[in-house]
Amino acid sequence: MKTMLVTGGAGFIGSHFVRHILNTYEDYKVINLDKLTYAGNPENLSDVADSPRYEFVTGDICNAELVNYLMQGVDLVANFAAESHVDRSIMGAEEFMRSNALGVYTLLAAAREHEVERFLQVSTDEVYGSLEEDEDPWTEESPISPRNPYSVPKAAGDQMARAFAITYGLPVVITRASNNIGPFQYPEKRVPIYITNALDDLPLPVYGAGVAIRDHLYVTDHCEAIDLVLHQGVVGEAYNVGSENEADGLTVAKKILEYLEKPGDLIQHVADRPGHDMRYAMNATKIQSLGWKPKFDFDEAMRLTVEWYLGNEAWWRNIRESASYREYYEKQYSNR
Ligand code: NAD
Ligand code: DAU
Repeated sequence: MKTMLVTGGAGFIGSHFVRHILNTYEDYKVINLDKLTYAGNPENLSDVADSPRYEFVTGDICNAELVNYLMQGVDLVANFAAESHVDRSIMGAEEFMRSNALGVYTLLAAAREHEVERFLQVSTDEVYGSLEEDEDPWTEESPISPRNPYSVPKAAGDQMARAFAITYGLPVVITRASNNIGPFQYPEKRVPIYITNALDDLPLPVYGAGVAIRDHLYVTDHCEAIDLVLHQGVVGEAYNVGSENEADGLTVAKKILEYLEKPGDLIQHVADRPGHDMRYAMNATKIQSLGWKPKFDFDEAMRLTVEWYLGNEAWWRNIRESASYREYYEKQYSNR
């Protein structure tokens, strides 16, 4: 048996990864350490909760004592735990500095102490900053140049992971992925807000002119990439995980309305995000050379995502009706 510590496994991507590992490797046990912030939801893993190979621990990756205790006997670590929403980081970034930077250091130090076999840091394309339309996509050698209060501590975590490989020889690998979409994404991110608003005939808020470009990666494609890099990536290296599914804001909004057969006048332009990164795009040939390629293109990824929200109303309605979600939504959108 191998033991894998997954942190942040009750969130969107982490929950898909826990399920992927339990379903793929019969000889793996998964310990899921998650603080259960507003974004963490044990319901995301209700289908595997009773597995004898799965253990859930509520706790903070910044808690060195707990992390050191859990790290005993761990072979592999995959760190997903983070504050993940850019708009919330613009409101205040203290928790982002803690979880996205200090939390990574705390995990790395414990992994070093306990001599783990592999440590994968889940990073993001946002560490590269923002691209102009005519610029080539980022490679792993592009400068790290984050521009918002979410991505700055993410870049610190990414680079601290690299430093542990260089300085202490810790067997670290890093993945930098583009915008994930799919089931169980908390409806603060653009795609699930648009789908759930459209289903309630509410406006779809488009920041500025809706021209910012994102690459849309289906969440299970991302999990397969992380699995591959964790097991076969070269120690000390970073891997871009991009799917070349680039689309701008208006295209995304129109596609969702089209799938749901809702009218175009639900699109509502609102004040732009301060410091809005205008384009993310990555060259993913390095991970492709390990044998990874995404299974889902933009249309298919979007269709599957829309279908999941249509079929799982209780999941998202529960969140949308919570006091904390309503408070956030009001603060973020009422004066835009
Ligand atoms: P999410 O917000 O859905 O989930 C984050 C999870 O981490 C939650 O379960 C939360 O409770 C937990 N968490 C937060 N702080 C913690 C702490 N201090 N200790 C323990 N648990 C904590 O996020 P997500 O969208 O699933 O993103 C997961 C990871 O992937 C993050 O590191 C994010 O930066 C990275 N990433 C996300 C995307 C994307 O498009 N969503 C793309 C690239 C990289
Ligand atoms: O690229 C990877 C990153 O993708 C991850 O590291 C982050 O954790 C994840 O949240 C995501 O960041 P973005 O800022 O790109 O995602 P978000 O869904 O917040 O916004 C996507 C685009 O849509 C962006 O151009 C801003 C715009 N937007 C967003 C919201 C929430 C709108 O136009 N309206 C909205 O209401």
